[in-house]
Amino acid sequence: MKILILGGGGREHALAWAIKQNPKCDELLCAPGNAGIAKIAECHELDIENPSTVLDFVQTHKVDFVIVGPEAPLVAGVAQSLREAGVTTFGPDKAAAQLEASKNFTKEVCAQANAPTASYAYFTDLSSAKTYILNQGVPIVIKADGLAAGKGVVVAMDLETALGAVETMFGGEFGAAGAEVVIEEFMEGEEASLFVLCDGMTAVTIGTAQDHKRAFNGDAGPNTGGMGAYSPAPILDANTLEKAMHEIVKPTLKVLVSRGTPYQGVLYVGLMIKEGQPRLVEYNVRFGDPECQVLMMRLGAQAFDLIEATVKGELEAAHVNWADDHALTVVLAAQGYPGSYEKGSIIKGLEKVAQDSKNMCFHAGTTRNGDDITATGGRVLNFTARGESLGEARQQAYDMANQVEWQGGFYRTDIGWHAL
Ligand code: AMP
Ligand code: GLY
Repeated sequence: MKILILGGGGREHALAWAIKQNPKCDELLCAPGNAGIAKIAECHELDIENPSTVLDFVQTHKVDFVIVGPEAPLVAGVAQSLREAGVTTFGPDKAAAQLEASKNFTKEVCAQANAPTASYAYFTDLSSAKTYILNQGVPIVIKADGLAAGKGVVVAMDLETALGAVETMFGGEFGAAGAEVVIEEFMEGEEASLFVLCDGMTAVTIGTAQDHKRAFNGDAGPNTGGMGAYSPAPILDANTLEKAMHEIVKPTLKVLVSRGTPYQGVLYVGLMIKEGQPRLVEYNVRFGDPECQVLMMRLGAQAFDLIEATVKGELEAAHVNWADDHALTVVLAAQGYPGSYEKGSIIKGLEKVAQDSKNMCFHAGTTRNGDDITATGGRVLNFTARGESLGEARQQAYDMANQVEWQGGFYRTDIGWHAL
């Protein structure tokens, strides 16, 4: 098969690495890709958020199978347009992708599905939002409705922060995404995510993970896209996982089917767990980044068989081969990230990093420039390792990270501390 992956981050490098190992993959393409992906796939510049551009590319290159990595093309209807044109594609339709694109949509679906989540109210004007906050008190959570690249959520521990957040959001900081605001009950507990493949009605769990969203050690500093992750998440034990599937995931899929917008693809289920009871924090309509890196490390080549079963509607008969192992990934980011950072500096020592089926340096924001690999993104490299214990995986990941010489970068030295 000729397979195309859309995206160019660490998530897509991990997907490419796993898929490339599957004998069904004859040729692998990626758009736009990065310097790491370019070693195993043919990379192309392409506007991946434009459905007709992507369809043209797929037809010209006679691609058999498309896997959409990030949320933006899904929300723009790329998977849907490809499917409508007869192209085999992994990823939800535009309507189902609203699970990530609109917090209010998700809340409505949860209410219909009777799925446990934070209570909430939805606002389109500042003064009623403020009155609501004053009545509810703090802590409280303020969310811009819509995609805000992870920046549209404020967990306010005091009134000043809460009121300031709605003022900023209605003030237009997030553009159209802030003209609608969801205000939520603050949920206590420990966060973990669950990854589920869905082919409409059937849902198959493919792994659990926990990530570290804050930039610095000890979970301090600003929120980022994720500075590291590990799998499995110990807090998601068999009982809690079963509850999450039974009370949250399956009822959600049923509601989407009843609305005539069945979900096909991977569902990222963000959970808050307290005393064994999971509640939904958010859905994402794609693999997490960097959670995908640890999931792919553990699944290997079978990831593509499972993705194929999803697309063909054959998940009912699918089987996941679980290894009793652990994976951990450490993100090397550019100094300044998640704020502004320099681009174009050279990363040295990459050739010293030994890579095999248990140790991989996945690339995120990298570009090849002659013989050099340069940093061109906020999150740049993901040192990912698999071991019999989480401690072993962690040691291996940091051993890799320590080989690389790059003044312009930083990483957290405590990934996995919760679980260790
Ligand atoms: P979201 O974009 O909805 O995932 O929110 C980003 C982060 O904010 C989550 O990963 C949580 O850490 C936190 N968060 C969101 N909603 C809540 C909530 N209702 N209670 C507590 N923390 C929350
Ligand atoms: N690591 C969080 C996310 O992918 O949304």
